[in-house]
Order: sequence, then C-alpha cells, then structure tokens
Amino acid sequence: MSASPAKLRVLVLRDAGFGGANETESEVVAALGSDSSIRLLEGAAGYGEAARSVQNQELDLVIVDEVAGDPTTVIEQIEHAAPELPIVVVLDEDQAMIAQACMLAGARAYLFRPFDPADIVEVVRQVCSKEERRRARTNTKPLTQAGRLIVVHGSKGGVGATTVAVNLAVTLAKTTDQRVALVDVNLLGGDTDVALNIVTDNSIADVVAHLRELDNSLLDDTMIRHPSGVFVLPAPSQLERAEAIGGHETAMVLAACRANFDLVVVVTSSRPDEHALAALEMADLVMLVTTPEIAALKSAARFLQLGHNLGFPPEKLQLVINRLNSKNAIPLDDIEENLHHKMSYGLPSDGEPMVEAQNAGEPVVILRPRSRIGRELWRVGREVALKLGAPITAAVTVDGATADPIQEPKRSRFALLARFRSLRPATAP
Ligand SMILES: Nc1ncnc2c1ncn2[C@@H]1O[C@H](COP(=O)(O)OP(=O)(O)OP(=O)(O)O)[C@@H](O)[C@H]1O
Ligand SMILES: [Mg+2]
Repeated sequence: MSASPAKLRVLVLRDAGFGGANETESEVVAALGSDSSIRLLEGAAGYGEAARSVQNQELDLVIVDEVAGDPTTVIEQIEHAAPELPIVVVLDEDQAMIAQACMLAGARAYLFRPFDPADIVEVVRQVCSKEERRRARTNTKPLTQAGRLIVVHGSKGGVGATTVAVNLAVTLAKTTDQRVALVDVNLLGGDTDVALNIVTDNSIADVVAHLRELDNSLLDDTMIRHPSGVFVLPAPSQLERAEAIGGHETAMVLAACRANFDLVVVVTSSRPDEHALAALEMADLVMLVTTPEIAALKSAARFLQLGHNLGFPPEKLQLVINRLNSKNAIPLDDIEENLHHKMSYGLPSDGEPMVEAQNAGEPVVILRPRSRIGRELWRVGREVALKLGAPITAAVTVDGATADPIQEPKRSRFALLARFRSLRPATAP
C-alpha cells in the first residue's frame, strides 16, 4: 500500500464499443476524473480482459461501467480474479431488474444512470472506507489461540457458584500473568456484575449481536475491565435480551472468549439449561459447587451422573463443597461415599467477611484475604492455576500472609449503597 494520504486507485471498465477516442466520454470517467482524491484508471471489460486488468495492478475499487452484454458475467469474472476487490456497477435505468443479480454476483453497490457526479464520488468513498474498516478488523489478532475454559456450576441455587467464580477469576488474574475473563452465562439470573460492583449496560447480548464480525478488539471493548485485571462479560440486565439468546450463540461467544483469553471462567445457572450445557461441553475443568445438605447433594449427584453421561473424565469434575463446617452438615465421608466422588476443595462458612464483601461489591479475596474464606479461596485459585499449567507469577502464600495481591484495601461501601438507592422507585417516600 502506498503512503497516505494516498489517492484511491479506481479502475473503470468499459467495453471497447462504448469508449475510445472517437466516442463520448463516460459519465463515470467525467465525474471521477475531476476529483483530486481519486486516481482514475481505465480498462476494457471484454471477455478475459476485465480479469487481467484487476490482477495486474494495485487497486482500491473497480467500476463496471458500460458493457455490451450481461454485467453480472463481468462482475463474476472480476470477483473470481480478485475476491477482495470492491466492485461497483453502473446500470441503465431499464436494467433495474438485474441490480440484485449484480449484487449476488459480487458487486458491493450499484448506481443508475443518469446520476449526479457527486453521488458516484460518494459511493466510491463509502465503499472504499467500508472495505478499509473490514480489512482493519480482519488484520487484528485472529481468533485462533486456545485458552482454557473453567466452568463453575452450582448444584442448586444459592450454594455459592457466583462466589467461587468471581473469586477464582480474580485470584487467577492476580497470581498469574494470564489474560483472564469471567463470563456470566446464567442469562436469566446472573449477578457477577453485582458481586464486582460493575455498572454497565454491556453484556453477552452485545457480543451475540456482533457474532458475524466478532474479533478480539470488539470483545475487549464490550467486556468490562475490573481493577483486578479480569475482563467481565455480565449477563443481560433485560430479560427479553437474555431470552433471545440460544445455546448455540452462547457456545460461539465462549469460543471467541477462549480464543482471546488464556483463562475463561464461566459461571452457569444451577439449572442445566442450554447455556450451561454449551459451556460444559467446551469446559477444560468443571467446578461443581455444592453445600453439605440433602437437596444440594441430591442435585450434585444428578449432575455428576450427567457429567458421566457426557463422557467427562472424573478428573475434569472438581467437587467444591461450600460451607463445609455448617451446623448439621452431612459429614464429608458420607458425602464422598454417596457421590462416589472425592472433594477437591472445601470452603468454610464464613458469614461476616462474606456479607461485608457483598455489601462492598468487592471479592472477598481482595477485601478480606486473611479471613478463613479468603485464604481458602486464594488456595483454590492457586491450585486451579497449577492444574491448568498457568505459571504462578505473583507470590501469594496459602495462609494469605504475604504482601502485594492480598493486602487489605481501604474499604468503601459507598458505591454499592448508591446502587442500592438507585434501585428504589423514584416515587418512594
Ligand atoms: N462460604 C460462605 N460463607 C458465608 N456466606 C457465603 C459463603 N458462600 C456464599 N455465601 C453467601 O451465600 C449467598 C449465595 O452465594 P452466591 O450468590 O455465590 O450463590 P449462587 O450459587 O451464585 O446463587 P444463585 O443460584 O442465586 O446464583 C451470598 O449471599 C453469599 O455471600
Ligand atoms: Mg449466582
């Protein structure tokens, strides 16, 4: 490409019978020839000549002007010879019925004679700038890099799936040099935004709306960067936007996230809906969160059976028992025996720091790293990183005693209280 500001190199193709020194000048040539931003080139549109012309020179756009036969044939030849080159076709008024055929053959725009000279210049500029944007997009990092997907699934509502997912994502981002994403595919009930005090209208629905032109920069722009470094893609706040998304689309979003991030933590609904299933099928690791009580364990058993039916190797399913020390909890031995599955991580019930973290909209691993729950969640993050082969780059001891990532920050409950107030109806006394 020549240095900017480069003129647009536009080739106008005409059949021999239409042009030439003794014949009238084409309106297209007259209009474009007088525009200083365009370098005009002319060529013949005869059989084989069009293809040769577009292959032999560097061009920004080609215009199929006056041709004796069917312009769609010329367009097809050009499209075949130079698939990336934008084509504009100029038709006579009585050729309206073939305009659509021209577009299907590969033209990007058409124009009817007679036209205002300014119109054709505008069409050329618009088509060229659209093509430039398209090229810029496709030149960004391709979506091919394969990150690892960690799915966090609660056996039942309220067992702590969001807590585990949010704190896991944050500890992974803090202790490794990996790019970490947190994606909420609990489309109808996701609350990662609340857990991280993120106020945004952006959600997975915005990514779904751009699936066709999805690339890394679009993903980065749509996701919200939490101060911990985690890129967050929340569930939609409007239910109708959530309901319009299918499992197939969720899978496509997750594939794009996996291509753009090293580690993608996905939190699902506790109901194994189509979005949860899409995530599970793609998962490298599944964290099944449950609590030590009958209803949650019964659902956990069902889920483990589902994992077995889906052909998951046992090591892919990590059993996380939350609130392990709760009063009247079923003993761990009985749980493991009945589930036929060993616990990978046990988390204590630790109400006070959890409530404080929730009210502050801060992950407990940041707000209260030295609490019992904070320490255990740091340990989970560290072990998951090691399991996935993500190198630990920041020093964090298991007991939460070291510096940097787990220093207790100054606490502010301000932001979340403001959010709570904003939820109250305006007319409330
Ligand atoms: N170990 C714990 N100790 C004390 N409280 C906890 C613990 N784990 C979770 N909680 C609290 O329990 C509640 C439910 O947790 P969380 O929102 O993580 O569950 P969930 O499985 O995502 O729920 P839902 O099904 O509604 O999405 C929250 O108020 C959370 O702060
Ligand atoms: Mg939740």
